[in-house]
Amino acid sequence: MSHLAAAPAPSVRVRAPGKINLTLRVGPVAEDGYHPLVTVFQAVALHEEVTATEVPEGAGISLTVEGPQAERVPLDSTNLAWQAVEAIARHVGLDPSVALHIAKGVPVAGGMAGGSADAAATLLACDTLWGTALPREELAGLAATLGSDVPFALLGHTAVGTGRGHLLTPAMTRGEFHWAFATRDEGLSTPEVYRRFDELTGPTAPSVGDADDNGLMQALRAGDARALGAALQNDLEAAALDLRPELARTLEIAQDGGALGTMVSGSGPTVAALARSRQHALALAATWTAEDAADAVWCTTGPASGARVL
Ligand code: C5P
Repeated sequence: MSHLAAAPAPSVRVRAPGKINLTLRVGPVAEDGYHPLVTVFQAVALHEEVTATEVPEGAGISLTVEGPQAERVPLDSTNLAWQAVEAIARHVGLDPSVALHIAKGVPVAGGMAGGSADAAATLLACDTLWGTALPREELAGLAATLGSDVPFALLGHTAVGTGRGHLLTPAMTRGEFHWAFATRDEGLSTPEVYRRFDELTGPTAPSVGDADDNGLMQALRAGDARALGAALQNDLEAAALDLRPELARTLEIAQDGGALGTMVSGSGPTVAALARSRQHALALAATWTAEDAADAVWCTTGPASGARVL
């Protein structure tokens, strides 16, 4: 007599990238509590991988996480991936039941949008698993309800973001840029960094309408890493440095090591350095480690693709 094993439950695996902001220009806080932004996002080849597995109807959502600093990721409805399941289930009128597993490759709470990548990957994974085949614009609309950085994690590559950062226009780039990142175990809270930005700039923060990113866009189109390094700009950097003064030394070490440009990534505390080559990125990272100026170091390239089914 043959012995038939039960077929494994269907599952879908999706990969989504972390990001950096090549420029991040922040205007004065608006009435809704958000700051108008003009930013240039670049997706980098550090990825989150989300596996969504079918479970019986009514079973609800379950969540497991593996990877660096996985113990710092919440496993309940405060996790953006959990909220992504609820949002897409509501949108398509299906039962929000699925088992999610997240393999982390983006630093946790580092200003690199790892949680946003999880949410973007989860939207695409559920859409694929449930066969709902939503158009990308509809997924992007759902993504924007989850967080300002979630639509970019779907889109990937390089894009200009306006509004809260969620209105995206793809940007032309050539070639590959090499990045080194210094991360800290203790994260920074994004709302807290924005609050400090408000305190430091007062009511007179210049309007973002005046932002000029022509030099940066030209550097991207030409694949000119040196010009890109000179054009990096983050209006939240002063606030992040005020909250975490030790980041100044991390920036300085990379500058002394010949980085083409340095900045705090997004709302921090991750520090990003643009390198001349992969070897140079590895050397910068090694110096941070030797000087004890980071809890962990990462080397990668950008741009990288947006969320896609594996
Ligand atoms: O949109 P998201 O949930 O990622 O934003 C987290 C917090 O960051 C917001 O609650 C707000 O305090 C701050 N934020 C902001 N302006 C933006 C984006 C985020 O003030 N454009």
